Amino acid sequence: MTVTPITVQVHSSGRSSRVVLVEDVRRGLSKRPKELPPRWFYDERGSQLFEEITRLPEYYLTRAETEILARCARDIACRMQPEAIVELGAGSSTKTRMLIDAARQSGMLSRFVPFDVSPEIVERSARELVAEFPGLGVHAVIGDFAGDLQQIPRLGRQLVVFLGSTIGNFDDQERAAFLAAVRSLLAPGDGFLLGVDLVKDPAELIAAYDDAAGVTAGFNRNMLAVINRELSADFDLGAFEHVALYDPELHRIEMHLRSTRDQWVTIPGVGMRVLFQQGELMRTEISAKFTRPMVEAFLHDAGMGLAAWYTDPEERFALVSAVPA
Ligand code: SAH
Ligand code: AVI
Repeated sequence: MTVTPITVQVHSSGRSSRVVLVEDVRRGLSKRPKELPPRWFYDERGSQLFEEITRLPEYYLTRAETEILARCARDIACRMQPEAIVELGAGSSTKTRMLIDAARQSGMLSRFVPFDVSPEIVERSARELVAEFPGLGVHAVIGDFAGDLQQIPRLGRQLVVFLGSTIGNFDDQERAAFLAAVRSLLAPGDGFLLGVDLVKDPAELIAAYDDAAGVTAGFNRNMLAVINRELSADFDLGAFEHVALYDPELHRIEMHLRSTRDQWVTIPGVGMRVLFQQGELMRTEISAKFTRPMVEAFLHDAGMGLAAWYTDPEERFALVSAVPA
């Protein structure tokens, strides 16, 4: 009998993702200003669009983080000697392959545990990974950062990784709750590897979130397509413009959708009819940027300490190695 190298465990804090979507849409569209949480970008199409974003000339984040990992993966793997790598918000796990490779060569890595809200992309990458790394077991966990992290099984000494600056998509409260949950996954000897985008020239940031080819605009509007499909809504995607703004005080990019006219949108799945006024902005994502002292402070507050700080030569992005304090 052969043992299947891939297992998939599905969670959603005991609620179906449709129930969560209904609550998020009802709450978010009742707020002034209106907002929707970014997790709803990532249906199969949204995950594909994000992958396209990572290849855009303006979106330096993925390239910078890849550059850092290419230099440091071996060092990290040798120091941590993980038996399992857990990747939060794994997506396609493209960059993580460098770490898996290094940890297989230098140690005893036998399990990879991708955690993500979007099953399609994780299942595809699980199939690729078991073909690429014979003998590696992949145990995927489908769930939400806000409530399902405790469901991640412990499969030996572990390195928990959270790449891509997805930590920037949380507000301060969400980030603190997330980091407390990460901390509770860590035993002595475990590690946390975090990718953060660094504060820089606003023009460079705006370009990264408002690319010339309009891929990010399509990614942003995809959230409306998700709501149309899942909740039988009638958002006219052509009547919402993509907007990326930088707030220097909160050092964060904000993505919005701006209504190009006065319009009513009907959302039968939540029993709502909603007025959007011409020019009205609805926020769909924040993407916070950090400095080293900010990272040290939020790690400290979560009961972790910085072990190593790696950056690309232009210091656009940082990969942070942390350990439980
Ligand atoms: N780690 C990859 C992908 C980043 S994109 C990289 O560095 O390129 C962000 C990922 O987080 C997506 O795969 C998305 O599906 C996932 N995600 C977004 N919101 C989530 C949530 N609330 N809970 C779990 N995963 C989430
Ligand atoms: C996943 N996350 C870190 C991306 C970011 O940069 O905030 C999502 C994204 N939004 C627009 N472009 C990319």
